[in-house]
Order: sequence, then C-alpha cells, then structure tokens
Amino acid sequence: MFPAVVIIVACCTTVILFLYKYTTYTYKYWKSKSVTFATPVPLFGNIKDHVTLKMTQGECLKNIYNDFPREKFVGMYQLQTPTLLLRDPETIRLFLVKSFAHFTDRGFSYDGHREPLTKHLVNLEGDTWKILRQKLTPTFSSGKIKSMLGLLQGCGVQLIEYMDATIESGKTEFEIRDLTAKFTTDVIGTCAFGLECNSLKDSQSEFRRMGCAVLNSSASLALAKMVRVFFPKLFKALKLRTFPAEVQQFFMGIVKQTIDFRNTNRVRRNDFIQLLLEIKNQNHNQENAIKSIELTEELIAAQVFVFFLAGFETSSTTLSFCLHEMAVNQDIQNRVYDEINETANMYGLPFSYEAISSMNYLEQCLKETMRKYPPVQALARVCTKQFRVPGTDLDLDVGTAVLIPVYAIHHDPQYYPEPDTFNPDRFAKDGDGGGGDNGRPSGVFLPFGDGPRICIGMRFAMLEMKLALAQFLHRYLVTLSDKSCTRIEFEPASFLSCPKGGIWLNVNKRKA
Ligand code: HEM
Ligand SMILES: *[C@@H]1O[C@H](CO)[C@@H](O)[C@H](O)[C@H]1NC(C)=O
Ligand SMILES: *[C@@H]1O[C@H](CO)[C@@H](O)[C@H](O)[C@H]1NC(C)=O
Repeated sequence: MFPAVVIIVACCTTVILFLYKYTTYTYKYWKSKSVTFATPVPLFGNIKDHVTLKMTQGECLKNIYNDFPREKFVGMYQLQTPTLLLRDPETIRLFLVKSFAHFTDRGFSYDGHREPLTKHLVNLEGDTWKILRQKLTPTFSSGKIKSMLGLLQGCGVQLIEYMDATIESGKTEFEIRDLTAKFTTDVIGTCAFGLECNSLKDSQSEFRRMGCAVLNSSASLALAKMVRVFFPKLFKALKLRTFPAEVQQFFMGIVKQTIDFRNTNRVRRNDFIQLLLEIKNQNHNQENAIKSIELTEELIAAQVFVFFLAGFETSSTTLSFCLHEMAVNQDIQNRVYDEINETANMYGLPFSYEAISSMNYLEQCLKETMRKYPPVQALARVCTKQFRVPGTDLDLDVGTAVLIPVYAIHHDPQYYPEPDTFNPDRFAKDGDGGGGDNGRPSGVFLPFGDGPRICIGMRFAMLEMKLALAQFLHRYLVTLSDKSCTRIEFEPASFLSCPKGGIWLNVNKRKA
C-alpha cells in the first residue's frame, strides 16, 4: 500500500506544482523590468474581480489605479498577460498621441478569414488600419454629417410618435434603455445600412432582433469572448465565433442587397453606405493607387457593421444615463429645458444644425454624463514598436498590452472633485481654461479615446445624441418612478457600461 500512497502524493504535488507554474509563469515580468506592479494572484493576475463577474473591467482597474497614487504607470497582469496600466495624463497623451507610432494597434484578436465581418476599423491593425481609416475619415466630416440631419430628425419624430401613442394609452413608466436602444438602432439602420427600419413601431423588426443577437451575452458567447481576449490562439484553434452565424449572414445579406439595388436602380441617399460606395468607385478610377487596399463588398459590409456595433449601444446607454440624471436633478432638467425652449423660439422647429450646435448647456450635460458613465471604461493599445518610456530606463517590448483606465480617471477627485456628483458646470466654457476644461490637464476626459485612433464617429454621435435629447426633453418631463434606483450599478458581465436592471423613469408630456 505504501508505494501507492507515495505515488499519488507525488502525482498530486506534481500536478499542483505544474498548475501553479502554468498559472504564474509570466508573473516575474514586471519585476524583471523594475516596474512597480500590483501583486497578482495565480491564474487571475489582477483581474479576478472582473473575471468572476463581481465588477466591471473599469471598476476593477479603478482599484488598481487608486492603490498607486504616486506612480505614472504600474505593471499588472490580465490573467497571464503582462499589461502596463497608465495613470498620469501626460503619459497617456504620450502613448495615445505623441508616440502613437509605437502603439498603433488594440491587440484585439479576430479571424478575418472565417468571420469577414470582424475585419473592421476597431480590430484592424498596422497599415491596413491606416489606409482604411484615411479612406473613411471624409465620411465623418461635418459636411457629410450635416447632410444626415434629416435622417436623424426622422428617427426623432418616430420616437416621439411612439411615445405619444404609448402615453395616450395610459402608460407613463418606461424602461428608458430599451427606448433609447430602439431609437439608436433606427438611426444606425437608416444612416449606416440605408434601411427604413422602424423598430419603434415594429419592435420585432429583424434589425433590432439582430442587434439583440449581437449583444445578447448568452453564456456560451460570454465565455467565447473571454477566450478571445485572453487566449487568442485557443480561440482560433477551437474555431469559436464572435457572433452567431445568422448575424453574419444577415448583415452581409443586407449590405449586398442594398449595393445591388443602388447600382441597378441608380438610387442615391445621404448615408454611410452611399459614401463608402463612392470611395469604392473612386478607387477603381485612379489606377496608380499604390499600396492601396480594395474596398470590396465584404470590407464595406464589415465597416457598416462596426458602425452598428460601435455606434448603437454606446450612444443609447449615454442617452439613458443622461435622462436618468435629468430625472434625479430636476433643477438641471429645468435649465436644459429653458435652453431648448429658447433655441426652439429663436431658430424654429425642427432643430437645425446651427440650433443644435448652439445648445451649450445640453452639450455640457452630455459630457458630464460620459464623464460619470463612460460607455467604454478602458482604452486598449498594444506596443507595436519597441518603446523607451521617456525619463525612465524602461524599454517596452513589442506585444506588451497597455490599458488606459478611463473610468478611474473620470472618477479621480484630483480632476473631478466629488466625482459622484452630476455637475455639468464642470464643462462650462467660462471656466479657468476657457476651453471648458476648467484648469484640468488634457488627457483626463477620454469618453471617445484620443489620438489617431480616437472614435471616428464622435461628431456624429454628439449630433445624434444632442438632437435626440433636444427633441425629447422639449416635449416630455422625466421623473423618477417607483422602480428607479438613484444610484446606478453597472452590469459586471457587460463590455460596455450597462445599468443593472435597466433604467426606469416616468415620462409625461409637458403642458404646451
Ligand atoms: C456615445 C457614443 C460613442 C462613444 C462613447 C464611443 C467611444 C469610442 C471609443 C472610446 C473608441 C476607442 C478610441 C480609442 O481607442 O482611442 C471608439 C472607437 C471607434 N468608434 Fe466610437 N463611440 C461612440 C459612437 C460611435 C459611433 C456613432 C460610431 C459610428 C458611426 C463609432 C465608430 C467607432 C469606430 C469605427 C471606432 C474605431 C476607430 C479606429 O480604431 O480607427 N463610434 N469609440
Ligand atoms: C437573449 O437570449 C436568450 C436565450 O437565447 C433569450 O431568452 C433572451 O430573450 C435574449 N435577450 C434579448 C435581449 O434578446
Ligand atoms: C418658452 O419660451 C416662450 C417664449 O420665450 C415663453 O413665453 C415660455 O414661457 C417658455 N416656456 C416655458 C415653459 O418656460
């Protein structure tokens, strides 16, 4: 009997030792680089609270951020991956803007052959990204965006018709996130895909269903997402998918149909698909385009798809968080209303581009909303060219992950005193800096990121959201309902900031 016990013990010890080694083998990295680091725990590194779904990634990074008040950056581990967490505004600007050439990629893994829809601007890397970004940038110029105002107004009108009808029928309590998601789905559907999809009237619309299918983090997909982020090789080996196959078919299908329809019927419309088609055709004509990539139908489909992915949930959650704060802070809602009413009187209705641009207080409220609830709680970069961090003797190796903890910075009392208070005056134009930053350093307000990879849809999103709020708050008063919670908690499993249990508010028509 004796030898058997010895063998079992020996085996167990070996297995445990092996597991320990395997789950900690990278943890000497920051020490060997002489970088101050947060102490990792085996397997999880420093993100245990996020992986076990206790909190969001942003909240988890906030804890690390707060533990090292004196450091400009700290080493940490996302599971086994050594990651540099940037803390100070100047260093952040350096990585995102001045030394961008060393950090051109996000390091998200994807399999463009198996899933062509993932070959989009957010994922693409190096020169391919650069060329495509250059091609797409004119699509988001203020002129082009202005020309979409009519489409946006149309979606706002649909929202109001839907609200009026529902209120008429006696209902005043709404789940706001559902409402704003329907609105932004329509916006992206019409502006990016060229569809007139009225998901407000027809909540079963195919497009909205696909939106849910993409975002619905069913258990298997959530697991696949984790695998994709932390074990990219395994992700490819197992042939996991980022989206269900039907999503892929659906989006490729409508883009193809739309392109065919426009080509055969010579229809044109002021939307993103049209602009992309024009770029595609231009390219055909100039033959000596060196080092260019062809904008195939597939590539066009991937880009409109990312406008949908990146554009619809970010703006709908921002809108719903903003309406929540309006309900909590009635004085602020009144001030916003006065501005909207004044603007409506001055410029007339519907709100023109100039009218929207003139509403500064509304813009401050949106900025403060994205300060308090940044939809993207952390920015990701990966070192693509060896980098000596100035003023130190730290050489970052190619492949090192970098994280910028947006949520933590937005809640640092050093930059935003009483960070939990909703105070749009933080972004008032007549503050110290004159630029609406009130003496804050640049690099501490990052809802859209910064540098050459800043959100390409920023101006479009601001216009869309300001218009929606102006139309909505002009007509309705929002107040807290019995189901409201005054303090919002985030859903830990969600990649973007997402309120736990939704946002419930009463919506009543204002007396004309
Ligand atoms: C409130 C609304 C939005 C927020 C808060 C937001 C936020 C962001 C953030 C934080 C990034 C990463 C920036 C970085 O890494 O430095 C990003 C990238 C991006 N966003 Fe947005 N976004 C919004 C709306 C939109 C809309 C409406 C569109 C398209 C119509 C869009 C398209 C994109 C694309 C394509 C990228 C990747 C850019 C690149 O890598 O070159 N976003 N966004
Ligand atoms: C997500 O998927 C589950 C099961 O597949 C379904 O019951 C649920 O209604 C879906 N949620 C949304 C928002 O579509
Ligand atoms: C809206 O503006 C008009 C014209 O300035 C003013 O008479 C009216 O009282 C305002 N409405 C409210 C509710 O403040």
